[in-house]
Amino acid sequence: MLRTAILGAGHYVPSKVVTNDDLAKLFTTSDEWIVQRSGIRERRYIEHDGIGASDLAVPAVHMACERAGVALSEIDAILFATLSPDAFFPGTGCFLQAKLGLPGVPALDIRNQCSGFLYGLSVADAWIRSGMYRRVLLVGSEVHSTGLDFTDEGRDVTVLFGDGAGAVVLGPTEEQGRGVLSLTLGADGRGAKDLWIEAPSSACSPERITHQMLDERRQYTRMNGKQVFRWATDKMPEASRHVLREAGIGTGDVDLFVPHQANLRINELVARKLEIPMDRVVTTIDRYGNTTAASIPLSLSEAWASGRTGPGACVLFAAFGSGYTWGAGVVRL
Ligand code: UT7
Repeated sequence: MLRTAILGAGHYVPSKVVTNDDLAKLFTTSDEWIVQRSGIRERRYIEHDGIGASDLAVPAVHMACERAGVALSEIDAILFATLSPDAFFPGTGCFLQAKLGLPGVPALDIRNQCSGFLYGLSVADAWIRSGMYRRVLLVGSEVHSTGLDFTDEGRDVTVLFGDGAGAVVLGPTEEQGRGVLSLTLGADGRGAKDLWIEAPSSACSPERITHQMLDERRQYTRMNGKQVFRWATDKMPEASRHVLREAGIGTGDVDLFVPHQANLRINELVARKLEIPMDRVVTTIDRYGNTTAASIPLSLSEAWASGRTGPGACVLFAAFGSGYTWGAGVVRL
């Protein structure tokens, strides 16, 4: 049976470390509040102007290809998941494709925020199993730091997010039991405005963004944190149970749980509901904050590189985020 295998993973974070104490110099917050509510101790920001999500993706892709033993020239298609695109259009995948020197290779952007990696994995899985493409690059990359509100008004959101990139190389396998065993996706647009950026917007007439909108700070992320927290801790376990059931395995068979990194408290609660001990759960949020579409491939890449997981391991992924969107997947590496 033909399945989609994760052949290798890579990641990249910029060098600028921003601690909770650094943020406390800019607006009213504290290391104690941030650590207690989210588990975050520091995050990374781009070093200077001119670095976009496509730039962070380049070293992550090179690492993923090297670890997969796949040359860039073998890549047949690019999927790029981000909520912080280089430009309103074209898709950031096109910018990345040019930077990788892969003219002609199709590039598709995935706009599903924290669930972007799992939405992208489902597209890659369909392409590979249908035989349409053989080697697919799936990237999640975010530059959040240039879109955060560094005032008291935006502090609930600003403390959570960081910049970073993760990538995987995917390809077909006929190895018994290996590859993507089960995937599920979901969305509920009734919650779209619980976590969103309003402007610029094609629905704002006569102009997509005005000085007044900027003065009203409508270009920044707004979040109903409590509502998002509640949904995340319901949907991530629900989706996880679904894929485990479909794959015919129990939580005891999960070698490693790689959840989206939005809040350590969310992941502890989800793991408790699934009865997966925390020593089998990957945590990177303490060092990188929420890197949205990048968080799952980045966390997988770190765990794989450190020897915490590897060929034959059963890995569970789960994510919830803006949209609302969510997803889960079981993959045997
Ligand atoms: O990746 C996608 C999705 N995002 C998420 O999954 C985030 C989900 N939500 C959360 O993680 C949590 O709701 C937060 C960490 C964002 C907030 O935690 P909370 O326990 O829900 O706090 P809260 O929003 O109820 O705020 C409690 C207090 C408020 O003050 P009052 O009204 O009690 O006086 C806030 O104004 O904490 C205040 N507060 C802060 N204080 C210090 C909010 N942000 C901050 C801050 N520093 N950064």
